[in-house]
Amino acid sequence: MDRKQHWEQVYSTKASDSVSWFQEHADQSLRLIHNTMLGKEAAIIDVGGGASRLVDDLVAEGYTDLTVIDLSAAALSVAQQRLGKCANSVHWLEGDITRTDFPARRFDIWHDRAVFHFLTDSADRHAYVERVMRAVRPGGHVIIATFAEDGPEKCSGLPVVRYQPESLHAEFGDAFQLVEHQKEAHHTPFGTVQQFVYCYCRKGNS
Ligand SMILES: C[S@@+](CC[C@H](N)C(=O)[O-])C[C@H]1O[C@@H](n2cnc3c(N)ncnc32)[C@H](O)[C@@H]1O
Repeated sequence: MDRKQHWEQVYSTKASDSVSWFQEHADQSLRLIHNTMLGKEAAIIDVGGGASRLVDDLVAEGYTDLTVIDLSAAALSVAQQRLGKCANSVHWLEGDITRTDFPARRFDIWHDRAVFHFLTDSADRHAYVERVMRAVRPGGHVIIATFAEDGPEKCSGLPVVRYQPESLHAEFGDAFQLVEHQKEAHHTPFGTVQQFVYCYCRKGNS
């Protein structure tokens, strides 16, 4: 089964609030987005957003330039149905983040929770970082959350790479400044705890 088939099956067979990564509100992500101090017209992309409710909260707060990309059409459909008419104000992209062509300097904020850690192949990580380099404007904001070094070894049955702030930042390189990092103990719907690390980086001005 390839990775798209895997995710289509997950979102076609499980309720979106019963998966291990479910959050009623993506509080840590929202805090970091607010901390950028950008206005509501900021161009924000949620990478591998799936059926996450982050987009609901950003729409409700009045953000006007939101993009959600995910491999799974089923995941995007869950989010669209939930948002109803508000879904029309969001750009939805179905695609693999390691293969999608983005316009240059399109986004002010790149957000990814629990997607980069699935890239166990260095060529995929390289392709991902190339896309961040191209699609995020100079001085833009990059928020990446992965399983921490003491987090689970698998997510959704797939192997992951676990990171410390320094090793996660190293994947992105010197073009990005690590501004802040934070651990989060995520409580899953079935009562277990998963350690995440959030890294907030600024892209250099060149
Ligand atoms: C663990 S879920 C996290 C979903 C969401 N970010 C959240 O925090 O609720 C991982 C998501 O990444 C998506 N995904 C996995 N690999 C991807 C890829 N290469 N390109 C785009 N999306 C991907 C999956 O379909 C799934 O929705």
